[in-house]
Amino acid sequence: MRQVFLNDRLVPENQAQISVFDRGFVFADAVYEVTAVLDGRLIDFRGHLARLRRSLGELDLTLPMTDAALLEAHRAVVAANAVEQGLVYLQVSRGVSDRDFRFPDPQTSPTVVLFTQKKTFLDDPLVARGLHVTVHDDLRWQRSDIKTTQLLYACMVKSRAARAGADDAWMQRDGLITEAASANAWIVTADGVVRTRQLSREILAGITREAVLSVAEARGLQVEEGAFSLDDALHAKEAFMTSATGFVSPVVRIDGAAIGDGRPGPVTMALRERYLTLMRDTAI
Ligand code: PDD
Repeated sequence: MRQVFLNDRLVPENQAQISVFDRGFVFADAVYEVTAVLDGRLIDFRGHLARLRRSLGELDLTLPMTDAALLEAHRAVVAANAVEQGLVYLQVSRGVSDRDFRFPDPQTSPTVVLFTQKKTFLDDPLVARGLHVTVHDDLRWQRSDIKTTQLLYACMVKSRAARAGADDAWMQRDGLITEAASANAWIVTADGVVRTRQLSREILAGITREAVLSVAEARGLQVEEGAFSLDDALHAKEAFMTSATGFVSPVVRIDGAAIGDGRPGPVTMALRERYLTLMRDTAI
C-alpha cells in the first residue's frame, strides 16, 4: 500500500484523513507542486521550492516548514514507495476552519500532503508519435501565475480534447496562445526561432520552461519570449510543450492540422535529450 505524507509524518494512504472543513476541499484554497523523479531522485527541486514559496506568498499563506524539511518529506515519500520513475505531488492548503470566505485570522495551521505516482514517462509512446492537441478559449481566472489547486477548467478542456480524440489541450485568449492545460506551449518558427509566451499573470512560470530556455540558449538557438497565435503555430516548423512530467513533448497536430511534416521535429527532440541529460545530472 502507498505511503503518503500528511502534515509531519508518513502514513498508509488508507489512514490519511483530512477534515471536510479543510479550505483546500471547500474553496480550493491551496497551492501545489509536481516534481518529477528520475533514477529515484528529484528533478529541479530548487525551482519547484522557489515557485511554491511564491505561490504561498501571493495568497498570504504561511507555511511553517523549512526548505530542508520539505526536501526531507519529498525524499521520505520517494523512499517509502520505492519510486524510481514518477512524480511527487505536494499540496499545501490553508487548513481547517468553519466555512467563511475570508482568510481566517489568525491563520489556521496549513494542511500539507505529499504523495507519489509511479510513471514510466521516459518510454511514453506518445513522445515517439508526437501529441495531438485541440485549442480552446482560455476561460481561467486571470491569476494563472499562482499554482493553485483550482484546476477545473484544465480538467474540462483536457476532457473535451480527449472526447475529440486528441491527447491534450492548448488554450488561447485574445487571439494568442496562452499555454497548454497543464504545460507551457512552444513553437519553432519557419525561420528557426524558438518561441514561448512571455511571463505574466496569464500563464504559469513553468520550471521546465525556465530550464529549456537556458538549454536552448546554450545550444546557440535563437530564442524569443513572446506570444504567438494559433495561426503562427499552424505555420510553425515544430511545436512542443514543457512540464515537469512531460519534460519536452513534441506536438504534431493542432486542431487536426499537421505541424511541419507531422512528425516530432529535430529541434524539439534535441532539446528534450539535452534537458533530460542536464536534469538527471543535477537531480538531488
Ligand atoms: N502542471 N502551465 C500549467 C497550467 C501547468 O499546470 C503546468 C504544470 C505548467 C508547467 O510547469 P512545470 O514545468 O513547472 O511543470 C505550465 C503540472 C505538471 C501538473 O499540474 O500536473
